[in-house]
Amino acid sequence: MKPTYYITTPIYYVNDVPHIGHAYTTVACDVLARYKKAKGFDVFFLTGTDEHGQKVEKAAMANGESPLELADRVVQRFQGLWETLNVDNTDFIRTTQERHKQGVQELFRLIEGKGDIYLGHYEDWYCTPCEAFWTENQLIEGNCPDCGRPTEKLKEESYFFAMSKYQDRLLAHIEANPDFIQPKSRRNEVVSFIKEGLRDLSISRTSFSWGIPIPGNEKHITYVWFDALSNYITALGYPDSESHNLEKYWPCDVHVIGKDILRFHTVYWPTFLMAAGLPLPQKVFAHGWWTVEGQKMSKSLRNVVEPNMLVEKYGIDPIRYFLLREVPFGLDGDFSHAALVQRINSDLANDLGNLLSRSTAMLSKYFDGTLPEPTEADAVDAAFIEQFTSALPVIDSHLDNLAFNKALQVIWTLVSAGNKYIDDTAPWALAKDESQRDKLGSVLYNLLEGMRLVALLTAPFMPEAGAKILGILGEDPDNLSLEGHDNWGGLPAGRSIEKAKPLFPRIEE
Ligand code: MSP
Repeated sequence: MKPTYYITTPIYYVNDVPHIGHAYTTVACDVLARYKKAKGFDVFFLTGTDEHGQKVEKAAMANGESPLELADRVVQRFQGLWETLNVDNTDFIRTTQERHKQGVQELFRLIEGKGDIYLGHYEDWYCTPCEAFWTENQLIEGNCPDCGRPTEKLKEESYFFAMSKYQDRLLAHIEANPDFIQPKSRRNEVVSFIKEGLRDLSISRTSFSWGIPIPGNEKHITYVWFDALSNYITALGYPDSESHNLEKYWPCDVHVIGKDILRFHTVYWPTFLMAAGLPLPQKVFAHGWWTVEGQKMSKSLRNVVEPNMLVEKYGIDPIRYFLLREVPFGLDGDFSHAALVQRINSDLANDLGNLLSRSTAMLSKYFDGTLPEPTEADAVDAAFIEQFTSALPVIDSHLDNLAFNKALQVIWTLVSAGNKYIDDTAPWALAKDESQRDKLGSVLYNLLEGMRLVALLTAPFMPEAGAKILGILGEDPDNLSLEGHDNWGGLPAGRSIEKAKPLFPRIEE
């Protein structure tokens, strides 16, 4: 049986349209999902939409539509974008789906049955126009931090989850599993938060109605984070499923999230799971945030980067590449058109594109496009080949650590090695000397075989380019498996390979 790999994105709120920040998380997960598939894993890659809650209810009201109408409309924007970006998810969960609703209610019942959910009162400062509760600390001179109007102390009946009970167990788990929360700085942040003391958590609302009813007391709806976090198991069919996906894939290998939703995933979610008697996720990785040309992305600044526009202008693969190459995953980064164009022109058009054009053009010119048999490798050839074989485990470990930019850097050292190998071996000089014919043949073989491995390794990041290069090399563009295909020498001599057209056009701006 294949080993399994379960990876998730956060589920996106439908009160906003997709932007580059959402695309970032989803593409990152897609790269890992594709890579793990290529390595022979049975992958379950989940994304979806978070459709309940007051924000969605309000956005719908402002638009004169029902919350479900709004969700039905916006969900298409997300699904359409993932298709455009070549995101190959296994499932797409919407929290308004019946399967999800049932799972959430079951999880509630189970935890309640174990005695960890109780009915009490939630007391805080309420802003009536905003329909929002605030803690004393959040108020600004006693007024609502959002609209500045006066607030009043209000008591609302609420169900509580006995989160405080799990404080020590959670801390012990984090200590015993150093990889549970990544990167390390985030882990420290969570540990300090827990050490300040966990309070019981209000997990129901009565002040609005757009949510999953609490079983047995339908005046209450489920708090949106209890609802949303459960998606990671309801999509697997929790509490049980004919597909047995829950037994097969849970606990997940990694929840990939943005740094703003760290606490929900590393405090709330694990304690819910502990209460339910379910295993915790193996890893939660929080990435950084993108600013745009140095500024925070916001509707009011009108600087929200719309991924569809970028794809139209620059293509899918370059955007996928840029997002993961430019900034170390885990740190904040800045999106700028200049940086994007620079990456496309230098890394893609110049380094990768040229290597393919030069190698295939020389094969055409010197061997009529027929791949020669490599003869024995001299020291330069051996060193070139050795770079490839030693890079594979390094790339593998970078990807296991979600260090996408490092994995790409290593792949690009191979691309540079290819260009340097051409300069060092000077095939045009070898071609002038008939006695060097075998040597010339080996050089071209090695270049194209290197290209094949580069294509396989780049394919998770740039699926179109990867498949295109493999097609040019006469390989099956649909077979992106790295299992048994990542050994040196996979290209059969004698094959015809045509001169490649430029892979990435240079962007002139
Ligand atoms: N619905 C919740 C998640 C529930 S998961 C059980 C939510 N949704 S969201 O749509 O607001 O945000 C989804 C993700 O997008 C978050 O991980 C967030 O960090 C990410 N991003 C939103 N803006 C971003 C940037 N500017 N840059 C990078 N990621 C950003 O939170």
